[in-house]
Amino acid sequence: MSFTAPITLPGLTLDLHWYKRSVFYEVMIRSFVDSNGDGTGDLQGLISRLDYLQWLGVDALWLPPFYQSPLRDGGYDVSDFRAVLPEFGTVDEFRELVTKAHERNMRIVMDYPLNHTSDQHDWFQQSRSDPEGPYGDYYVWSDTDDKYKDIRIIFVDTEESNWTFDPIRRQFFFHRFFSHQPDLNFENPAVREEVANIVRFWMDMGVDGVRLDAIPYLFESEEGNGEGEPPTHEFIKELRSMVDLEYPGRILIAEANQWPREVAAFFGTEEEPECHMAFDFPVMPRIFYSLRSQQSDELVRILSETTDIPDGAGWGVFLRNHDELTLEMVSEEYRQAMYGWYAYDPRMRSNIGIRRRLAPLLDNSRAELELAHAILFSLPGSPFLYYGDEIGMGDNIWLPDRDSSRTPMQWTPDRNAGFSTADPGKLFLPVVQSLVYNYAQINVESQLAQSRSLLHWVRNVIHVRKAHPVFGLGTMRVLSTDHESVLAFVRSYEGSGTHFGDQAEDVLCVFSFAHNPVSVTIDVTGHEGAALYDLFGGGVFPTINEDGTLTLTLGTQSFYWLHIGSAGGRS
Ligand code: BGC
Repeated sequence: MSFTAPITLPGLTLDLHWYKRSVFYEVMIRSFVDSNGDGTGDLQGLISRLDYLQWLGVDALWLPPFYQSPLRDGGYDVSDFRAVLPEFGTVDEFRELVTKAHERNMRIVMDYPLNHTSDQHDWFQQSRSDPEGPYGDYYVWSDTDDKYKDIRIIFVDTEESNWTFDPIRRQFFFHRFFSHQPDLNFENPAVREEVANIVRFWMDMGVDGVRLDAIPYLFESEEGNGEGEPPTHEFIKELRSMVDLEYPGRILIAEANQWPREVAAFFGTEEEPECHMAFDFPVMPRIFYSLRSQQSDELVRILSETTDIPDGAGWGVFLRNHDELTLEMVSEEYRQAMYGWYAYDPRMRSNIGIRRRLAPLLDNSRAELELAHAILFSLPGSPFLYYGDEIGMGDNIWLPDRDSSRTPMQWTPDRNAGFSTADPGKLFLPVVQSLVYNYAQINVESQLAQSRSLLHWVRNVIHVRKAHPVFGLGTMRVLSTDHESVLAFVRSYEGSGTHFGDQAEDVLCVFSFAHNPVSVTIDVTGHEGAALYDLFGGGVFPTINEDGTLTLTLGTQSFYWLHIGSAGGRS
């Protein structure tokens, strides 16, 4: 496979707001490419496919943890924050990845599970065996398991309590996640200092950003529910000032699975900023809800509600990632409806969510895949793709936990899907061989050979998005329509006047979730008499009426992105 990459000057473009215009791609190193035939993906494998990612239009990679780890939680259980897991490579190879990505103007964001460590971490081993020693106070210890009663259990499938008794120290330790992942004690200044130094360690290597895993949970309190407690925000403010001072242009991304107002708190304020970006958890399940209910009202409601955020802050929007499709941010009624539509087999469920990939969730419907991506790429915020979804990869619900959607990337129809030359039995997870998503059918090579494949379609949408800065930088106004299945909004950008091609623009985005064609009238007040042009092909659409209304017809589960020109003429 070869990719003709656009000619760019080596090195990163200077843009403090690069993350707002970026298309991110989450890639699990273990799952992408195995360069040495040991059955596990590695850093050299990822380096060898940077051309592919550049061709696709990816601006930044998000790498889930690749630290030393016993891998009992996909690497989110870290036993040494300054070492690379040997089967993935070395710190020098990671440095090479950063350099080679930067040569392509691609940024690297790495995951940092700062809330906890593996119980194999040396800090924990010392803490449990020497309570009076330097690490004695690194974790949250207690003689009883009845503190913090209002703190919920997250991994409800596996854990019964947030406290586990340690037979060596003969005390209980606190953990938000698995019982092999003790929470660090952020009350201890030495822990906070360690965390800042670990961020420095990787930023010194050129890392462009850090995803702050499980960020609401750093501090516990007896009064609160342990999610976004005031000292947690204080700590993030301090971390942000350190990054701004020592590493300007690098970013912090919040993983906070909460309601919009609570997530927005992780952006901080103009005066006291916290994270540059935060994932938008509430909007994601509502896209899936609308696809099956054929109703746009919940999406309209949540998009209209999204709170104002400081200048410079941006949302991260996504359809799927390495975790289950979490249903924590929907009501019980909607959750049950979604289980019925998307997880009819109990094996498809995990914790409070659904452990399936995008294409199987949408039953491999090309119309739905396009509609879902079109929403993702036009919502305010930066889109985060999950590796393999660009070719509509399938999952394997017979594998445990979230491994169902972490199987090897499918590159070719050859042995092990071109992921590895190892004996198939040696792969860290088997490749998908199901009837519909078998790697012999679903792979990068065959989709490259078909001009109408999902891969080419996704690449095209990415490039259209990138040609219109309004998507990354503009505001959004949700419009009212007379059809319950239609979502419509205008994205508007005034232009900064500082960037080449950074033009002002208004774009009308219209999506129909109906399972049949519809006609809809939309209120586009403010753009009376404006001409409309399709962003993909330039086709001329009906002009907006003088009273601000516009009537359109849309095919089954389809969408338009329309440039709003000036009244009475093309512009
Ligand atoms: C990650 C999960 C992980 C958990 C514990 C998260 O929120 O996304 O994959 O299991 O943190 O670290």
